[in-house]
Amino acid sequence: MRMLITGATGMLGQDLVAAVDQAGHEPRALSRADLDITDAPAVRRAISDAQPHVVVNCAAWTDVDGAESSSADALSVNGTGAGHVARAAAAAGAWTIQISSDYVFDGSKHEPYVESDPAAPLSAYGRSKLAGEREVAAGAPGRHTIVRSSWLFGAGGPCFPATILRLASEREELTVVEDQVGCPTFTRHLARALVTLAEQPIDGIVHLAGAGACSWYDFARQIVSNAGFDCDVKPGRTRDLARPAPRPAYSVLATERGSDAPVLPGWREGLSAYMAAGEVGAR
Ligand SMILES: NC(=O)c1ccc[n+]([C@@H]2O[C@H](COP(=O)([O-])OP(=O)(O)OC[C@H]3O[C@@H](n4cnc5c(N)ncnc54)[C@H](OP(=O)(O)O)[C@@H]3O)[C@@H](O)[C@H]2O)c1
Repeated sequence: MRMLITGATGMLGQDLVAAVDQAGHEPRALSRADLDITDAPAVRRAISDAQPHVVVNCAAWTDVDGAESSSADALSVNGTGAGHVARAAAAAGAWTIQISSDYVFDGSKHEPYVESDPAAPLSAYGRSKLAGEREVAAGAPGRHTIVRSSWLFGAGGPCFPATILRLASEREELTVVEDQVGCPTFTRHLARALVTLAEQPIDGIVHLAGAGACSWYDFARQIVSNAGFDCDVKPGRTRDLARPAPRPAYSVLATERGSDAPVLPGWREGLSAYMAAGEVGAR
């Protein structure tokens, strides 16, 4: 199977290219320099030339705080650009897998969000990702999967564990928010699940995130403990950070797709795999 991956040099994109190759499929990896998804004619040309069976759109504006002051730019990549990809894939007879986010939810629920829960994004980034979901659904009806995931970490990009490891090696004390709860997801685990989905496509929205849930504070404590650092992690509050973009207080993802949906290992397992591979040195 030929799989075209946009945003292929991003954190998830890199692991997906490797997972496609390892599964014996043929990756066609396109970086932003190869293909800017906001350029509709270029997207049509690239997908038509490659003749893929599946297109996975990993390209995105991922600067959550920056999106607040550049919402039109974020929307043009995450919304309009995603639509270009889906329409071009449908025209070429390919299946589209679009990566979306837990930030489409407002976080007011107290139990895990399933696919049919109403989206109500709090931030410009969340609104742009929801716009992308709608563009993809309209552009490739009956031929797309929208994968919502959350709190990604991996070797191929700056991420929370890398930041905590750096800070914990420099300081005796760290404060990390405990009033945001979600599902940390190792990109290598997500990438494998995306290959499974490409082999057995599911139409519509699917939630795929590391099993279990925790706060950023819990996550940081686990990272510091795994690394054996002597750093005291203290619980903090989101309001004290005063970041431009609001985040959902609770964005744990679960699935109502039953056995159709791939199941990811737990977030602790993902963290151990990330750290065991020595990937922390990559940053
Ligand atoms: N990170 C998370 O915690 C998280 C959580 C939930 C969902 N997601 C979603 O997961 C997906 C992958 O995220 P990630 O963490 O791997 O992000 P990432 O590391 O920032 O990768 C995104 C990639 O998209 C590329 N890109 C940006 N604008 C583009 C454009 N106009 N055309 C083509 N490529 C473009 C970037 O290229 P440059 O680097 O050259 O700009 C980068 O290679 C995204 O859809 C994101 O919204 C992420």
